[in-house]
Amino acid sequence: MPQLKKRQVPGSKSAEFLELSRTYEPPCAADQVPVVWDHAERVWVTDVDGNRYIDFTSGVLVTNLGHSHPGLVRAIQEQATRLMNCYSFPTPERVTAASRLVKTFPPNLDKVFFLSTGAEATEAALRVARRYTGKQEVLGFYGAFHGRTYGAMGVAGSMGTRRQFGVPVPGGIMAPYAYCYRCFYDKKYPECDLYCLKALDRVIGSSSSGDLGAVIVEPYQGTAGFVFPPDGWLKQLEAWARERDLVLIVDEVQSSFGRTGKMYAIEWEDVRPQMICLGKGLGSGVPCSALGGESKVLASMAAGELSSTWGGNPLASAAALAVMEAMEKEKLPENALKIGAGMKARFLEMKGKYRFLGDVRGKGLVMGLEFVDSRDGYTPSPEITRRVIMGCAENGLLLGKVGFYGNVIRIAPPLVINQEEADMALDILDSVMADFE
Ligand SMILES: Cc1ncc(COP(=O)(O)O)c(C=O)c1O
Repeated sequence: MPQLKKRQVPGSKSAEFLELSRTYEPPCAADQVPVVWDHAERVWVTDVDGNRYIDFTSGVLVTNLGHSHPGLVRAIQEQATRLMNCYSFPTPERVTAASRLVKTFPPNLDKVFFLSTGAEATEAALRVARRYTGKQEVLGFYGAFHGRTYGAMGVAGSMGTRRQFGVPVPGGIMAPYAYCYRCFYDKKYPECDLYCLKALDRVIGSSSSGDLGAVIVEPYQGTAGFVFPPDGWLKQLEAWARERDLVLIVDEVQSSFGRTGKMYAIEWEDVRPQMICLGKGLGSGVPCSALGGESKVLASMAAGELSSTWGGNPLASAAALAVMEAMEKEKLPENALKIGAGMKARFLEMKGKYRFLGDVRGKGLVMGLEFVDSRDGYTPSPEITRRVIMGCAENGLLLGKVGFYGNVIRIAPPLVINQEEADMALDILDSVMADFE
């Protein structure tokens, strides 16, 4: 286990590349730790100055398998020497990946179509829903993020996807998500009896033209600040949608592939959507996404109508196969559950110690720490969040922030993390926070 020394962030070489980036690229990410990555292995990232960090970002929840997983690297190398692209011609890799992936789905989802990015998968789901239902409107949720294409933005409610881009694609109807720590309706769970779901009919009654056909929802909202709805919320939403004959699309682009301690977050409540969107962890570093669905729903699209240049290419398919194999063989969802439970218990202890740590939430290896002003214990504090992130980076822990107010640190290490590494990371976080008391 590498010993971590305090380092200057950014280091001198990182600073040079950051300057080059500022000169030749538009800003790529908001408020990111100024570290330039050189290489990475499992949960360890080394920057261009030779500093090592424990990665609690998984590169935006992508590298579930850990960086440069040997099985994945081998699969990509072997595939690259044989065949990398052939557009939509079937290959053994693609159809085997499809058959293997479908077997991991709930039984009603019996078909899958491969694409390359998460936004492509959600965009495809929206197109299918319109075609299948013949209806134009889709219900989405405040705080949602489904990608940066116009259709996906039209059913999203996160900052940076709707603001100042003009009139969104028509048909998106938006309702409050179950963000209990900052309830839109100012109610308290469980006394509220999930009022936000009960209010949905009123939202639809006042905003829909009567042409609602589908609902798109994340099992937890990542970009909004790792907002986890209370147990039972998603299941009740499923029932609500079914009673109204609406197609349910679950966006599992970031919540799947073991992240919450199950292969899919919908497994926690045995939710059965008609479509599921996958991305990120499916390729675990190689761009690969997928739209899973019921045959009768996907059959509404004619041959070719879902296709894209790179979707299901042999390289990405070989990667997806290697990911599924490692996920199962190394029992990564189980590891996420085990390590995550210990980490959450420790975060809750920290919440008791530090008044500026307002909320701790999450499951498996995906958690949100919401930072607030110590004086009232509630006002969002992006400033403390920023200081914690920088303090941790200087001590060898890489974190990222999200949230409507920019005051949530996301905890999302690769699922291969072991106990010693988790303890080391949490010791860093604890000692950085202790300095602020
Ligand atoms: C829930 C969810 N859906 C869709 C996307 C879009 O994925 P991509 O950036 O690969 O287009 C993201 C990305 O963060 C996401 O978190």
